Amino acid sequence: MYTEILRIIEGGLAKDTKKVFNYSKLLADKIGKDGDDRMSKMILKAIESRSATTITMDELLTTPVDQESRLSIVDVSIPSKEGIPVVLPKLIDNKIADFINVVKYQSQLIQKGVEMSNSLLLYGNPGCGKTTVAKYISEQTGLPLVIARFDAIVSSLLGNTAKNIRKIFDFADNKPCILFLDEFDAIAKARDDQYELGELKRVINSLLQNIDSFAKQNILIAATNHSELLDKAIWRRFNTVIEIGLPKEEEIVKLIKTFTSNFDTEFNADDKRIDRLSKLFAEKSPSDIKTIINNAKAQTVINGREVLQYEDVLVELFEFNHRGNLTIEKLVEYLNDNGVPQTTIADRMNVSLRQIRNYLNKQS
Ligand SMILES: Nc1ncnc2c1ncn2[C@@H]1O[C@H](COP(=O)(O)OP(=O)(O)OP(=O)(O)O)[C@@H](O)[C@H]1O
Ligand SMILES: [Mg+2]
Repeated sequence: MYTEILRIIEGGLAKDTKKVFNYSKLLADKIGKDGDDRMSKMILKAIESRSATTITMDELLTTPVDQESRLSIVDVSIPSKEGIPVVLPKLIDNKIADFINVVKYQSQLIQKGVEMSNSLLLYGNPGCGKTTVAKYISEQTGLPLVIARFDAIVSSLLGNTAKNIRKIFDFADNKPCILFLDEFDAIAKARDDQYELGELKRVINSLLQNIDSFAKQNILIAATNHSELLDKAIWRRFNTVIEIGLPKEEEIVKLIKTFTSNFDTEFNADDKRIDRLSKLFAEKSPSDIKTIINNAKAQTVINGREVLQYEDVLVELFEFNHRGNLTIEKLVEYLNDNGVPQTTIADRMNVSLRQIRNYLNKQS
């Protein structure tokens, strides 16, 4: 059994997925024969979830590098099966589902002579889920995501940028994968930098050509939070364009419930409180909502409490909104205004009820 483990370690270090896969199977067999059925099944399950992409992964493991820095210019992310939660308005959800269907039926569509280009441009505020949506599409289609971060690529010498872009497209071409160009606007932003305009124009032109020929047969997703920087010529290249904006009340409620799904909460089943929270979270990105809720969860665990309370979230929300100028009077007032009983506030702040009333009287 130790031999298998040794081979798996060797395989892992050499990024030899096939080796890891084969010796894991042997290991699972042996463990099963030794009577530990549960562990054997767990190992098989762990490798099964990857097996569909194993062959592809081998091809995708040798990623292209920048000539000078020798750093890898793409990351490959294997689709997980964990079920990435994405909360979006229904209409956007539908558009993404449509895109996924076209990807899934791509070969049938080509066979029937329906030419569909598969390119998606995601734009919108930071932290609203562009990268998450790309990962979700990868998960839903089972295709690995080849991630190229344009901000990193463009920051290298511009002369190399054109070469690097070419390498990225060549690498992803004709492989079962999705090419994801993240921080796509970096290329347009370079215009303000020291680069010569002619040189940049050449880079953009070669980018456009690459997109054109790539998107005919492959799947391309690009994301930006500075849509205003992108040339019209670039917009035209994408046959699906989706704006992912800040969540509205309905989505905020879903996000709160999603981010607290692994916790007992005092407020999720309380319509009034959840409604209040959804209003207080207005204009926040899902990413900020997640941070605030995670902070509240952390405090719950650190203080040895079992249930995530309404006031836990309010305290973190208040702190998030008033980073740097926090006063206890204002926090007490905030909790009181949002329906937290004064006894609970006193308890939470570790001060007497009289003190709480003092704070509140001072405010009014
Ligand atoms: N719509 C959403 N549904 C569920 N979770 C989300 C959503 N949007 C963001 N998140 C959470 O917030 C985190 C950050 O989101 P993500 O990186 O996808 O944002 P982004 O739009 O790509 O931001 P940026 O413009 O900064 O790259 C993710 O880890 C995810 O957990
Ligand atoms: Mg992102």
